[in-house]
Amino acid sequence: MASKSKFQAIRGTRDLLPPDTALWNRVEQTAHEVFSTYGFGEIRPPTFEPTELFARSIGVETDVVSKEMYSFLDAPDVSDLEEARDAVKQVNPGIGAAGKKDAFELYLHNFISEVEKGIATKQLNLSLKAQSDFGILKARYVELLGLPGSDDEDTNNKRRHLTFEIIIKTDLLKFGESVTLRPEATASVCRAYIEHNMQQLPQPVKLFYMGPMFRRERPQKGRYRQFYQIGAEILGGPDAPAIDAELIEMLMTFFEKCGLQGTELSINSIGHAADNCRRGYVAKLKAELEKVKDKLGTDSQRRIETNPLRVLDSKLEHEQPIIEKLPRIADHLCDECKTHYAAVKHELELRGVIYRENWRLVRGLDYYMRTTFEITAQGLGSQNAVCGGGRYDGLVELLGGPPTKGIGFAIGEDRLILSLQESGKGAAPQGRDVYIAWMGERAYATALRAAKNLRDAGFRVELPPVELKFGKALERASKLGSRFALILGDNEVADGQWTLKTLADGSQQKLSEQALLEYLHTQRAAS
Ligand code: HAM
Repeated sequence: MASKSKFQAIRGTRDLLPPDTALWNRVEQTAHEVFSTYGFGEIRPPTFEPTELFARSIGVETDVVSKEMYSFLDAPDVSDLEEARDAVKQVNPGIGAAGKKDAFELYLHNFISEVEKGIATKQLNLSLKAQSDFGILKARYVELLGLPGSDDEDTNNKRRHLTFEIIIKTDLLKFGESVTLRPEATASVCRAYIEHNMQQLPQPVKLFYMGPMFRRERPQKGRYRQFYQIGAEILGGPDAPAIDAELIEMLMTFFEKCGLQGTELSINSIGHAADNCRRGYVAKLKAELEKVKDKLGTDSQRRIETNPLRVLDSKLEHEQPIIEKLPRIADHLCDECKTHYAAVKHELELRGVIYRENWRLVRGLDYYMRTTFEITAQGLGSQNAVCGGGRYDGLVELLGGPPTKGIGFAIGEDRLILSLQESGKGAAPQGRDVYIAWMGERAYATALRAAKNLRDAGFRVELPPVELKFGKALERASKLGSRFALILGDNEVADGQWTLKTLADGSQQKLSEQALLEYLHTQRAAS
């Protein structure tokens, strides 16, 4: 039994290897081609961003933000600050106020100004929590200044308490900004839209991206902690239903070009956040859920409080008949959202896109409004959503930009690849066109030249780095799945007539260098 190596890929992450990576490349190439025909350009945002960006966009109550993010403190170089902090901590306030107070206040003042200087010069980033802690610290400092040391025992006690509190706060104050490995890229694209003033470009701006995302989920088939998405976003311009429909048409075209089998498109509208639309519906839903609370599982019970819409997502068998009887959002949409939804469906029909309506499709991220959609594919088991998306008008504004319409999707590339492989659309191992079996010093020089010329002409060539016996070389050639073996020995070099062996049938022919190239070209064209 092979022994386990000391280092293994971390749970939920994996190596993508040949020949699978050829399929990954093919899929990504297809995305580039299809998306560019719809006017999309590629954006490559960073893989980590301030935690706050995701918390604000995706929503703090969502599973992604509350449980699944890989976040860490990006600590700056703060050695001066640490010294100032140590000085505050080293003054022992327990001995009493007299004599010590001046030093303590001085060191505290120094520490506070160092932090403020760091913030002003942008060398220091404080997380929201740290900002609030620092605010409290400064308030306590002001209180302390208003309480000069005296012979009065009460005052001294108060000072002592205040000083202890200040020392603890100072000690716990964390420097550095909390950053997060991106769990998705919509928030980054919106951030980039604002940062680069893209609202000044012709609208809408159409962008696509592909790359790794990170979520600390329980790994299983089709669910990883590092996974890959191919996504697209349309920002700015109107919210015309034709935009929603064209985006979905592009998506379905892409899947078709990839050869994905058994795709099913589900759509829904979740309206907009207003009392006469989604908010009103959620209140009604919540009230109905309260009535059946006892029959629901603990997850759903919790969600009644945190996010009642997510109860509709439940896959628990015993909850299904209960959920089916709940009020439906379609009956509570405002007139504009209702009209928009009807028009999206009409636009899809005009394009011949087949869809199914699913009133329970609410999506797991907070930024959605109106159109939501998901696509499932075959061969994926329980994790069969291969793509999710929807409209998110207002997200750019929420992140500090101008009011902007937005819609987009993200495809789970791992799942797309899995489904393609399950339906036999995987990539075959790539063999070699030509294996060069060379023998002798003189032949080696010719072999090097031949290898370079053949590779320049686009052929896949294997050149053994050391001389091999003829039989061994042919064995290697066939193990590597080579189509031809080019045999170069003293005779071939002397005559200028090279031997080309077709491995499938063992036939051999003699060819000049030029004739060989021509022959290989015609063979490639024919295959
Ligand atoms: P999402 O539904 O969270 O949406 O993810 C989109 C797709 O990514 C899913 O349908 C699934 O295929 C894949 N996916 C998600 N988590 C995992 C995982 N742990 N392992 C493997 N695949 C996974 C979003 O991310 C939105 N940003 C989509 C969007 C773009 N909405 C508007 N614009």
